[in-house]
Amino acid sequence: MKIAVLVSGGGTNLQAIIDAIDNGTITNTEIVLVYSNNPNAYAIERAKKAGIPTAVKSPKEFEKRDDFNKALLQILLDAAPDLIVLAGCLVVIPKSVVEAFPNRIINIHPSLIPSFCGTGFYGLKVHEKALERGVRVSGATVHFVDAGTDTGPIILQKPVMIEQNDTPEILQKRIMEQAEWKILPKAIDLIANNKVTVEGGKVIIDGYDSQSL
Ligand code: GRF
Repeated sequence: MKIAVLVSGGGTNLQAIIDAIDNGTITNTEIVLVYSNNPNAYAIERAKKAGIPTAVKSPKEFEKRDDFNKALLQILLDAAPDLIVLAGCLVVIPKSVVEAFPNRIINIHPSLIPSFCGTGFYGLKVHEKALERGVRVSGATVHFVDAGTDTGPIILQKPVMIEQNDTPEILQKRIMEQAEWKILPKAIDLIANNKVTVEGGKVIIDGYDSQSL
Protein backbone atom coordinates (compact mmCIF):
# COMPACT_ATOMS: atom_id res chain seq x y z
CA MET A 1 0.00 0.00 0.00
CA LYS A 2 1.36 3.42 -1.01
CA ILE A 3 0.83 6.17 1.57
CA ALA A 4 1.26 9.93 1.48
CA VAL A 5 1.82 11.55 4.90
CA LEU A 6 0.76 15.17 5.40
CA VAL A 7 2.56 17.08 8.15
CA SER A 8 3.00 20.60 9.53
CA GLY A 9 5.24 20.29 12.58
CA GLY A 10 7.82 18.18 14.38
CA GLY A 11 6.85 14.94 12.66
CA THR A 12 7.01 12.56 15.64
CA ASN A 13 3.98 10.69 14.28
CA LEU A 14 5.67 10.51 10.87
CA GLN A 15 8.77 9.15 12.60
CA ALA A 16 6.65 6.53 14.37
CA ILE A 17 5.34 5.42 10.96
CA ILE A 18 8.84 5.35 9.42
CA ASP A 19 10.18 3.33 12.36
CA ALA A 20 7.19 0.96 12.34
CA ILE A 21 7.76 0.21 8.64
CA ASP A 22 11.48 -0.36 9.33
CA ASN A 23 10.82 -2.74 12.26
CA GLY A 24 7.97 -4.62 10.61
CA THR A 25 5.15 -3.35 12.84
CA ILE A 26 3.65 -1.95 9.65
CA THR A 27 3.68 -4.37 6.69
CA ASN A 28 2.82 -4.04 2.99
CA THR A 29 3.35 -0.28 3.14
CA GLU A 30 5.58 2.27 1.42
CA ILE A 31 5.63 6.03 2.11
CA VAL A 32 5.70 7.56 -1.38
CA LEU A 33 5.41 11.22 -0.33
CA VAL A 34 5.64 13.50 2.69
CA TYR A 35 3.87 16.82 2.08
CA SER A 36 3.97 19.88 4.29
CA ASN A 37 2.49 23.35 4.08
CA ASN A 38 5.34 24.51 6.33
CA PRO A 39 8.83 24.71 4.77
CA ASN A 40 10.36 24.77 8.26
CA ALA A 41 8.59 21.64 9.52
CA TYR A 42 11.16 19.33 11.09
CA ALA A 43 9.00 16.51 9.72
CA ILE A 44 10.44 17.34 6.29
CA GLU A 45 13.97 16.79 7.65
CA ARG A 46 12.84 13.42 9.02
CA ALA A 47 11.48 12.45 5.58
CA LYS A 48 14.68 13.51 3.80
CA LYS A 49 16.81 11.54 6.28
CA ALA A 50 14.66 8.51 5.50
CA GLY A 51 15.02 9.06 1.73
CA ILE A 52 11.32 9.77 1.26
CA PRO A 53 10.23 12.21 -1.50
CA THR A 54 8.90 15.49 -0.09
CA ALA A 55 6.70 18.31 -1.34
CA VAL A 56 6.20 21.70 0.29
CA LYS A 57 3.44 24.04 -0.83
CA SER A 58 2.03 26.72 1.42
CA PRO A 59 -1.37 28.42 1.01
CA LYS A 60 0.59 31.66 1.53
CA GLU A 61 2.07 31.20 -1.97
CA PHE A 62 -1.36 31.75 -3.50
CA GLU A 63 -3.62 34.77 -3.70
CA LYS A 64 -6.70 32.60 -3.88
CA ARG A 65 -7.27 29.63 -1.56
CA ASP A 66 -8.94 27.80 -4.40
CA ASP A 67 -5.67 27.88 -6.35
CA PHE A 68 -3.83 26.36 -3.36
CA ASN A 69 -6.53 23.70 -3.04
CA LYS A 70 -6.08 22.80 -6.73
CA ALA A 71 -2.29 22.62 -6.29
CA LEU A 72 -2.61 20.36 -3.23
CA LEU A 73 -5.03 18.05 -5.03
CA GLN A 74 -2.63 17.79 -7.99
CA ILE A 75 0.33 16.99 -5.70
CA LEU A 76 -1.68 14.14 -4.19
CA LEU A 77 -3.06 12.84 -7.49
CA ASP A 78 0.49 12.82 -8.91
CA ALA A 79 1.72 10.79 -5.90
CA ALA A 80 -1.28 8.45 -6.39
CA PRO A 81 -1.32 7.06 -2.84
CA ASP A 82 -3.70 4.32 -1.74
CA LEU A 83 -4.01 6.08 1.63
CA ILE A 84 -3.41 9.63 2.84
CA VAL A 85 -2.31 10.02 6.47
CA LEU A 86 -2.77 13.36 8.25
CA ALA A 87 -0.06 13.36 10.91
CA GLY A 88 -0.26 16.74 12.55
CA CYS A 89 -1.39 18.48 9.37
CA LEU A 90 -2.76 21.92 10.17
CA VAL A 91 -4.02 22.68 6.66
CA VAL A 92 -7.79 22.34 6.18
CA ILE A 93 -8.12 19.47 3.70
CA PRO A 94 -10.16 20.74 0.72
CA LYS A 95 -13.47 19.06 -0.08
CA SER A 96 -12.03 18.18 -3.51
CA VAL A 97 -9.31 16.06 -1.85
CA VAL A 98 -11.78 14.33 0.49
CA GLU A 99 -13.96 13.53 -2.53
CA ALA A 100 -10.99 12.26 -4.56
CA PHE A 101 -9.98 9.87 -1.75
CA PRO A 102 -13.24 8.65 -0.11
CA ASN A 103 -12.52 6.69 3.10
CA ARG A 104 -8.84 6.75 2.11
CA ILE A 105 -7.74 9.62 4.33
CA ILE A 106 -7.05 9.06 8.04
CA ASN A 107 -6.20 11.54 10.80
CA ILE A 108 -4.66 11.25 14.26
CA HIS A 109 -6.30 13.46 16.88
CA PRO A 110 -4.89 13.84 20.42
CA SER A 111 -8.12 13.25 22.36
CA LEU A 112 -10.89 10.66 22.67
CA ILE A 113 -13.27 11.98 19.99
CA PRO A 114 -15.99 13.32 20.38
CA SER A 115 -14.34 15.08 23.34
CA PHE A 116 -12.11 18.10 22.75
CA CYS A 117 -12.21 18.07 18.96
CA GLY A 118 -13.55 20.09 16.07
CA THR A 119 -12.64 23.55 14.82
CA GLY A 120 -9.96 25.23 16.95
CA PHE A 121 -9.01 22.02 18.81
CA TYR A 122 -5.45 21.26 17.74
CA GLY A 123 -2.03 20.92 19.35
CA LEU A 124 -1.72 22.05 22.98
CA LYS A 125 -5.20 23.62 22.92
CA VAL A 126 -6.71 20.12 23.07
CA HIS A 127 -4.81 19.28 26.26
CA GLU A 128 -5.43 22.69 27.84
CA LYS A 129 -9.19 22.14 27.45
CA ALA A 130 -9.00 18.57 28.82
CA LEU A 131 -7.14 19.78 31.94
CA GLU A 132 -9.48 22.79 32.26
CA ARG A 133 -12.49 20.43 32.26
CA GLY A 134 -10.80 18.21 34.82
CA VAL A 135 -11.29 14.91 32.97
CA ARG A 136 -9.45 11.90 34.44
CA VAL A 137 -8.91 10.17 31.11
CA SER A 138 -7.93 11.46 27.70
CA GLY A 139 -6.13 9.71 24.86
CA ALA A 140 -5.92 9.66 21.07
CA THR A 141 -8.13 8.74 18.13
CA VAL A 142 -7.44 7.64 14.56
CA HIS A 143 -10.40 8.27 12.30
CA PHE A 144 -11.31 8.47 8.63
CA VAL A 145 -11.59 12.01 7.32
CA ASP A 146 -14.92 13.12 5.93
CA ALA A 147 -16.23 16.56 4.97
CA GLY A 148 -16.37 17.66 8.63
CA THR A 149 -13.66 18.42 11.22
CA ASP A 150 -12.71 15.34 13.30
CA THR A 151 -16.12 13.82 12.44
CA GLY A 152 -15.32 10.76 10.29
CA PRO A 153 -15.72 7.09 11.32
CA ILE A 154 -13.47 6.16 14.26
CA ILE A 155 -10.89 3.44 13.54
CA LEU A 156 -8.88 3.13 16.78
CA GLN A 157 -8.74 4.89 20.15
CA LYS A 158 -6.39 4.47 23.11
CA PRO A 159 -7.03 5.96 26.57
CA VAL A 160 -4.35 7.72 28.63
CA MET A 161 -4.84 8.49 32.37
CA ILE A 162 -4.39 12.09 33.45
CA GLU A 163 -2.16 12.66 36.51
CA GLN A 164 -2.67 15.24 39.27
CA ASN A 165 0.20 17.57 38.26
CA ASP A 166 -0.13 17.31 34.51
CA THR A 167 0.52 20.39 32.44
CA PRO A 168 -0.66 20.57 28.82
CA GLU A 169 2.91 19.85 27.69
CA ILE A 170 3.31 16.82 29.98
CA LEU A 171 -0.08 15.45 28.96
CA GLN A 172 0.65 16.03 25.24
CA LYS A 173 3.92 14.11 25.51
CA ARG A 174 2.31 11.19 27.37
CA ILE A 175 -0.54 10.93 24.88
CA MET A 176 1.92 10.97 21.99
CA GLU A 177 4.16 8.32 23.56
CA GLN A 178 1.48 6.02 24.97
CA ALA A 179 -1.26 6.44 22.37
CA GLU A 180 -0.58 8.33 19.11
CA TRP A 181 2.67 6.63 18.21
CA LYS A 182 0.98 3.23 18.76
CA ILE A 183 -2.48 3.51 17.24
CA LEU A 184 -1.51 5.43 14.08
CA PRO A 185 0.97 2.76 12.91
CA LYS A 186 -1.48 0.05 13.99
CA ALA A 187 -4.30 1.63 11.96
CA ILE A 188 -2.05 1.90 8.88
CA ASP A 189 -1.04 -1.78 9.18
CA LEU A 190 -4.67 -2.87 9.55
CA ILE A 191 -5.69 -0.90 6.45
CA ALA A 192 -2.64 -2.11 4.49
CA ASN A 193 -3.73 -5.69 5.22
CA ASN A 194 -7.36 -5.11 4.28
CA LYS A 195 -8.66 -5.61 7.84
CA VAL A 196 -10.71 -2.39 7.91
CA THR A 197 -14.10 -1.75 6.35
CA VAL A 198 -16.69 0.99 6.89
CA GLU A 199 -20.34 -0.05 7.11
CA GLY A 200 -23.09 2.43 7.89
CA GLY A 201 -20.59 5.00 9.08
CA LYS A 202 -19.03 2.56 11.53
CA VAL A 203 -15.60 0.89 11.22
CA ILE A 204 -15.38 -2.92 11.28
CA ILE A 205 -11.94 -4.36 12.03
CA ASP A 206 -11.27 -8.00 11.14
CA GLY A 207 -9.80 -9.71 14.25
CA TYR A 208 -10.03 -6.56 16.40
CA ASP A 209 -8.19 -6.97 19.72
CA SER A 210 -8.45 -3.96 22.04
CA GLN A 211 -5.70 -5.42 24.26
CA SER A 212 -3.21 -5.31 21.41
CA LEU A 213 -3.14 -1.50 21.18
C1 GRF B 1 0.12 15.45 17.35
O1 GRF B 1 -0.18 15.69 18.72
C2 GRF B 1 -1.14 15.04 16.64
O2 GRF B 1 -2.06 14.35 17.46
C3 GRF B 1 -1.75 16.35 16.27
O3 GRF B 1 -0.67 17.20 15.96
C4 GRF B 1 0.50 16.74 16.63
C5 GRF B 1 1.55 16.50 15.59
O4 GRF B 1 2.74 16.20 16.20
N1 GRF B 1 -2.64 16.20 15.15
P1 GRF B 1 3.94 15.63 15.27
O5 GRF B 1 4.16 16.63 14.15
O6 GRF B 1 3.51 14.30 14.74
O7 GRF B 1 5.10 15.55 16.22
